Amino acid sequence: VRRPAPLSIRTRLTFWYTGILFAILLVVSGLSYSRLRWAVLRDLDTSLLAVAQVIHDTGYPVSGAWPAGTESALGHILGPEFYDKFFQLADPQGRPGARSTRLGGRVLPLSDRARARAARGERTFENFRLEGGERVRLLTLPIVRDGRVVQLVQVGISLDRAERTLARHLETLLVLVPLGLALAAAGGMLVARAALRPVDEMSRLARHITTGEDLGRRITDRGTGDELDHLAGTLNGMLARLEAAFVQMRRFTADAAHELRTPLTALKGGIELALRAPRPADEYRRVLASSLEEVERLAALAEDLLLLSRFAATGASLREAVDLERLVVEVTEAGVRLGHERGVTVRLGDTAPATVRGDAQALRRALLNVVDNAVKYTPPGGRVETSMRRADDHAVVAVADNGPGIAPEDRERVFEPFVRLDEARARDTGGAGLGLAIARSVVTAHGGRLSLESSPGTGSVFTFHLPLA
Ligand SMILES: Nc1ncnc2c1ncn2[C@@H]1O[C@H](COP(=O)(O)OP(=O)(O)OP(=O)(O)O)[C@@H](O)[C@H]1O
Ligand SMILES: [Mg+2]
Repeated sequence: VRRPAPLSIRTRLTFWYTGILFAILLVVSGLSYSRLRWAVLRDLDTSLLAVAQVIHDTGYPVSGAWPAGTESALGHILGPEFYDKFFQLADPQGRPGARSTRLGGRVLPLSDRARARAARGERTFENFRLEGGERVRLLTLPIVRDGRVVQLVQVGISLDRAERTLARHLETLLVLVPLGLALAAAGGMLVARAALRPVDEMSRLARHITTGEDLGRRITDRGTGDELDHLAGTLNGMLARLEAAFVQMRRFTADAAHELRTPLTALKGGIELALRAPRPADEYRRVLASSLEEVERLAALAEDLLLLSRFAATGASLREAVDLERLVVEVTEAGVRLGHERGVTVRLGDTAPATVRGDAQALRRALLNVVDNAVKYTPPGGRVETSMRRADDHAVVAVADNGPGIAPEDRERVFEPFVRLDEARARDTGGAGLGLAIARSVVTAHGGRLSLESSPGTGSVFTFHLPLA
């Protein structure tokens, strides 16, 4: 079964809008109709009452016919009010007596309710259908003399006019409400379309972004400062970050390729040279040995790249408990051995027991990269000190050296992949510039941070903050 296509926001807004307006118009029309009905009936009642009052005041007897000229006399008194009404007198039991000629032979009915109310001296307004189908509004007014009901005056008026008025009003509503609805729906549609046009524009742009090059495009700011502008700003911000990430990724790829190409070229050159002519065995051995060195470098580089991408990509599932103090001690011992070769003194400062959750192997690698740097970049005779302490819910590990330090403008840069500050020296120490990048992404993946303080000339301090388990 195919599901119907979802309605656009534009259509849904218009539906809602029209639906709500319809409900409002229904209520308003109902109110106006009943208000008009009420007013029309009240007018009728008032004029019925006026006529009844006059008849009452003239005091005709119930029985017998009207004295000659009565009706024209009443007509004279009441003016036009008189001519559209019927009236009839009745005794208190409701037996009809004299009545107006306009009634023809018909008798005005008297309901039980009206009779009962009349007995209590109260007047009653009712609607009736006469024989012959004519609908009338009827007033029954008791005439009380000396505390007794002596007579009933009944005055009726045809409801024709009133009903025609109401019907015309209803017709008007039946035309105007749908017309109003149609106009409002059309207007609502236009408004919704105009309001959503920027959204259309945004989705069109988003659809057109298919390559990394397109990430440079931006949604135009309309400068209205409204929600959609806000959304455009948010999307533009996202595009900018994506673009930056894309550029960074491309640079990373290029750097990595470059980094791989250099040892490969050296390897190729060495092997080609060796193969050009027959050589003594120990020459082959020498070429092979230096080739192995290059291969080892390549393998280490590949390892580093893998590590970096593993920690850059994920938060990793780092659940094992790691004894950080022991890790620091071990890494420092490794540092002592490294320092020994290079004439740098490495010592362990204060430590404190601390456990963190994570990947012990990766953390060791991160620490080792920083200690290795400290030893590598500190000139012979220098000193490196590792230490750790606890602060609140963090373990803080510091690696301090008294080497050349790092200039302020380079302090963030050194954490980027493939960044080496002193190309010439770094090259012969063999690094690719991935050490700090790896350290930082490992620490970040553990929910911590790795920062650097340094003043050129007096040395550097790398500080790890790691959340305690
Ligand atoms: N303790 C330090 N003192 C002075 N400079 C440093 C120190 N640590 C790092 N640097 C500078 O930062 C650069 C980046 O360090 P990083 O560890 O990322 O790369 P690398 O040591 O050159 O290579 P790799 O670590 O991949 O073998 C180094 O090349 C060096 O110039
Ligand atoms: Mg390094």
